[in-house]
Order: sequence, then C-alpha cells, then structure tokens
Amino acid sequence: MRVRTDCRACRGKNLAEVFSLGEQPYANAYVRPEDLHQPEPVAPLELMQCDDCGMVQLKHVVSPDNLFRDYCFQTSSSSRMMSHFADLMAEAVDKYVPFDGIVVEIGSNDGSALASIQRPDIVRLGIDPAENLAATARTIGVPTISDFFTSSVASSVARELGKADLIVAANVLGHIDDLDDLFMGIKILLKPRGAMVIEVPELSRLVNGTEFDTIYHEHLSYFDQKPLSLLAARHGFQVVDFSRHETHGGSMRLTISHGNVKPCMASKLHDWHGFRQRCNLSRSRLMDFLTKQRLAGQTVWGYGAPAKATVRLNFCNVGTDLMPAIVDCTPQKQGRHVPGTHQAILTPAELLAQQPDVAVVLAWNHYTEIVVKEWEFVASGGRFCLPMTY
Ligand code: TYD
Repeated sequence: MRVRTDCRACRGKNLAEVFSLGEQPYANAYVRPEDLHQPEPVAPLELMQCDDCGMVQLKHVVSPDNLFRDYCFQTSSSSRMMSHFADLMAEAVDKYVPFDGIVVEIGSNDGSALASIQRPDIVRLGIDPAENLAATARTIGVPTISDFFTSSVASSVARELGKADLIVAANVLGHIDDLDDLFMGIKILLKPRGAMVIEVPELSRLVNGTEFDTIYHEHLSYFDQKPLSLLAARHGFQVVDFSRHETHGGSMRLTISHGNVKPCMASKLHDWHGFRQRCNLSRSRLMDFLTKQRLAGQTVWGYGAPAKATVRLNFCNVGTDLMPAIVDCTPQKQGRHVPGTHQAILTPAELLAQQPDVAVVLAWNHYTEIVVKEWEFVASGGRFCLPMTY
C-alpha cells in the first residue's frame, strides 16, 4: 500500500482530505468459511480532493494484485447491465468502426460486452487482469489478454493486431492508479481517427445521493467532467461526446479522440459537510431499523453481495445478529462470507426456501431487476426494502 500525494488528473500537489470511512476490509475479498478466524487485510478509505482541478481520489493505493486477479463481479450477473453495455457497444461500433475494424475493451470482464457485437467483420480483443473472467470470456469466443492495460501492453497489441478504431473502458478508469500510463497506451493504440468511449460513475451523483458505499479500495478515483476532461487533454485528447446514464448510481460517458480542444468549465463544489452528516444519518437509520426488526422477532437478510454491501455493512457495523445472511447470484461468492461483518452468502434459492421476513437490497442499483425477478418471495409474504429507505 502506498500514499498518493499528487492529483491523478492535473498532477497538482494541493490535496485536502474531505471524507473518511476509516479502516475498512477489501470490499471484494469474500472470506472462505475456513478463514473466518484469520485476520483480514484492512486499509484506510480516505478521500482527498484536489484544490486545483476538483479531482477526488483515495489517499491510499492498495496494490492491484491484491484486488483484481480473482475478481468476483461478472457483468453477465445483471441483465440490465448486459443490455446497457450491448447498447453502448452497438452505438459506438455504428459511429466509429469501419468495415474490418478493430475494437479493444479495457477491463473487458467476462467478455459479454464484446460478445454482443453483431458484425462478423470486426476484430475484437478484451484486456482484463482477472484470470478467472478472462477464461470465461474465451469460452464465449472473445479473445482476451489477462493482464493490466499498460502502455507496454498497448504497444504489443498495436504491433501484433494493429491499432484500434474503437477502445472502450467502462467502469475501469477509477480502478487505475497510473492514468498517465493508461493514456500513453491509448495514444499508441488508438488510430488517428479512432475514438475511445469512457464510462465512469459521476462524483456529483455519489455526493448528492449519499452513495458512500461506492467508495472502496478498487475505486481509486471519483470523477466529475472537468478533471477527467483535463486529464485527457493533458495527453492530447479532446472530448467529442458526453452523456449521462443511470447505471451504478449515476454515470457519465465521455467519448474522446486525438485532438487539442481544451476543456473550459468550472470545478464543481461539493457539500462534503452535508455528505458526512447524511452518511452518519443513513448509518443510524439502518441500525434503528434492523434493531427494531429483531426486537419484533422479524428476520432480515440482505439481497446482493456487491462490494458496496461490504462497505455499507462495515461502515454501519451490521453484525450477523442483525443480518445473518445475504443472497447473491454470483457462484464465486456463494458459500463465502462478507469481509469484516461475515454474513453468509447464499444462493437466491435459499431466500425462497427459508423465507426471511425482509430482504434489504444492498445491490440497490439493481433494485427493480431484483424485485421483478423475486416476485415469489413477495407473493409468499416477504418484503423488499432499500438500505436507505424502509
Ligand atoms: P454491482 O452493484 O453491479 O457491483 P459492485 O460490486 O461494483 O458494487 O454488483 C451487483 C451484485 O448483485 C453482484 O454480486 C450480483 C448481485 N445480483 C444478484 O444477486 N441478483 C441480481 O438479480 C442482480 C441484478 C445482481
């Protein structure tokens, strides 16, 4: 683990702490039953804001080898995310990829977005450090390099496959410490008239929506439009398209190309004091709710064990006495336990078999999809609620 002392976007040194969740376990390090009594790795989660450009980033950088080599999140676990990424690909391919073109996806996960490309003339390549996901991608016919994307990987891809017409990086920039090297790689790999589509959660939505559970060690950077555009401009890229989307609690999509149009926009000012107050309120309301349910003899489980469940349960200190189990459809998570608070992760079938009274949807960004899918739980008298409203 190291401390980052300069801004990833503008390289300025004027960083000030704006928020802290204290020491937290790694959100995706689901614990095997035999390891429940072993100490778990923890590291601070402190947000620093750059006074010069408004970029927000974690102070402590955990080595990516500890976080990404065996990654449990699979795009294909959500049909809504699958169709979101298929739409992104279809639109970008339509706009930017000529006949026989090349599409590269950085952080290609299980390959489902690249697999959705319908045109057989297009050469596809995924790059993702998670060996387990790269293997899954290959089984569905998506060639995948299991490595971190760096300028040297970009050089070898450009040499062996050719330069890309389209590069896609969805929900991946926030994970990368050395963004200068990433953009150097893009410079090498992107054709002169090519385009790169970047999608990241938007910081303003995190702050305004009190989405503190999206702060975890994998998420090193929290972008608004200005710092991200400045970062791209520093490397000779200009923003040619911008749109907002509802995924991951509110995301923004920027398309960049080679060029020198400089961004001119004001930094967003965030109300960090209000954010801190709302986080504490959210914590006390969740604890009140769970305590009351227990006193009333009601059983409460969680639904969805994403990284954000780990953060919320640990920040709110929800033990297994208040919430003994969570169900999640990801096979790699089932049979394991939530880092820190140790809820057992079960299959969704257990929800119907054991019928707890309430299921708190910790994967709140998938609330509608989950409630529709689990209609039988509701029909049998079960109740769903969100972790921030009951
Ligand atoms: P997500 O919130 O997308 O990721 P992150 O880890 O970045 O916060 O993760 C969604 C989790 O919810 C994932 O573990 C799969 C689970 N899930 C279900 O169990 N059932 C479902 O119907 C859906 C949509 C998701």
